[in-house]
Amino acid sequence: MLRKPRIWLLAVIGVIAIGGVGVACGEDGEGDETPTAAATSAATGTAPAGTPSALSGELEIFSWWTTGGEAAGLEALFDLYPDQCSPDVEITNATVAGGGGAQARQVLTTRMLGNDPPGSFQVHMGKELTDTWVTTDYMEPLDALFAEEGWEDVFPQGVLDIVSYEGKPYSVPVNIHRANVLWYNKKVFADNNLEPPATFEEFFTVAEALKANGITPLALGDVEAFASVQLMETTLIGVLGADAYNGLWTGETDWSGAEVTSALDTFKRLLGYVNSDHSSLTWDQANDLVISGDAAMTVMGDWLHADNKAKDFADSGWMPSPGTAGIYDALSDTFGLPKNAPNPDAVNCWLKLVGSKAGQEAFNPLKGSICARTDCDAALFDEYLNSAMDDWKQDAIVPSLAHGAAAAPGWATEISDAVTVFLVDQNVGTLQSRLSDACQGADVCQ
Ligand code: GAL
Repeated sequence: MLRKPRIWLLAVIGVIAIGGVGVACGEDGEGDETPTAAATSAATGTAPAGTPSALSGELEIFSWWTTGGEAAGLEALFDLYPDQCSPDVEITNATVAGGGGAQARQVLTTRMLGNDPPGSFQVHMGKELTDTWVTTDYMEPLDALFAEEGWEDVFPQGVLDIVSYEGKPYSVPVNIHRANVLWYNKKVFADNNLEPPATFEEFFTVAEALKANGITPLALGDVEAFASVQLMETTLIGVLGADAYNGLWTGETDWSGAEVTSALDTFKRLLGYVNSDHSSLTWDQANDLVISGDAAMTVMGDWLHADNKAKDFADSGWMPSPGTAGIYDALSDTFGLPKNAPNPDAVNCWLKLVGSKAGQEAFNPLKGSICARTDCDAALFDEYLNSAMDDWKQDAIVPSLAHGAAAAPGWATEISDAVTVFLVDQNVGTLQSRLSDACQGADVCQ
């Protein structure tokens, strides 16, 4: 099997509204492919192309996984494809760099609207999948595939519900990530006789001590806006708790209330302890500050664990971000079958692989995530991932805002824009009223 890399370059050429969501989009047009006919065995629910060797042609897999651990996880899936599907399929690894995927989604939107879909693409479980692509009729339902593979029995019901629309599943979850993790450098804490903070109060005490010793307390790399949105999200969870945080997305918690003010004040205080060059760094470059000991901590999802492994960082410590013990801020990467996808039979086998035990056991230990399936062998996973598996079973699960699970894409974009302004003006009152307005606009807070 040959594997072709393809990097889509981004040239923003316009803003297109889809499903009520404003999306900037563009691409360089490199290597455009003509989609094949819509009829697919996967879509119609008939059997896939039979024996693996019956598959051939090209298969383009689109994602934003370009950093060490992320790319390694994806490669592990590609490596299984010849055996599980066919050695005669040529996989194109189409990536658009940029943590959190905002740039990738712009390119994807252009391609989908231009009837040039990839074979399959990375998309977050939840609103990002359903509100962007399913309700707008861009995806094939996968109920036949789920039935054939017996996936109703191996994915938790909550996960099945979130990838489904009107009773049918539309994408295959490959993992579960946790967004609310405080990663820290154990040596820095030991050298400074400090304990990693479990609460915001402890955080600010520790941060002052670190600052006095010339160490940046909290590393942030928000050249991609998701990182600061995620820091605000984890702060909201830490101050409000699981139930009140969940209520933000259902209209039960008042965005203009005192608890939210308190969380946003805390968010502002946290920003007082970050590296001054945060707006020019990526999330993994921020992690480099922790690895080198220039910074002590960073709040990031557990894809950072994969980054640490890829960089052989042995002094990594972890705990729930301040105030969030017992809460799992969750997101999931999934893959589906776009309508008019080229080579749908090869895509169908890709989806089988992504949802299979073998696929998830190969992918997740490298990706820093746990299986979306419930039957993976824990012995294949390291200490951090085993702790994540335990927490996933017992914690309160809440949806991630920054990674497509909590709010419809248009609402999430408005929140992200408000946070971007806040990073400059630091005005809590303005931020809170923009967040409150965004909820009204999303028709949730009536
Ligand atoms: C998330 C995605 C993760 C990881 C992260 C950083 O949105 O779900 O798999 O890639 O972005 O890019």
